Amino acid sequence: TYIIAQPCVDVKDRACIEECPVDCIYEGERSLYIHPDECVDCGACEPVCPVEAIYYEDDVPEQWESYYTANVEFFETIGSPGGAAGFGVSTFDHPIIAALPPQNT
Ligand code: F3S
Ligand code: F3S
Repeated sequence: TYIIAQPCVDVKDRACIEECPVDCIYEGERSLYIHPDECVDCGACEPVCPVEAIYYEDDVPEQWESYYTANVEFFETIGSPGGAAGFGVSTFDHPIIAALPPQNT
């Protein structure tokens, strides 16, 4: 899977959403999250993020490794909705992100 890391937090450019052929990039309150089971690893989202927040799971910079966990665990309560557009915007974040002071401002 691909994951979304710290540069997205409090930025949420959303350009990535338009590129994903399977609509697996879900919106939380402060960040977006890629669904680890729905993502087909096409990689289309990665180059369009203006702040370089998106990484293939094996290429996540060391300081942001916890974001792998955040992307995976974000879906523990949601499950696999099968499409972000229909699911809508969530009013919560993974605890790692929710606990952060304002980022990237
Ligand atoms: Fe975030 Fe970049 Fe997408 S800032 S919403 S990962 S385009
Ligand atoms: Fe979609 Fe990016 Fe995965 S475009 S399929 S989230 S690699």
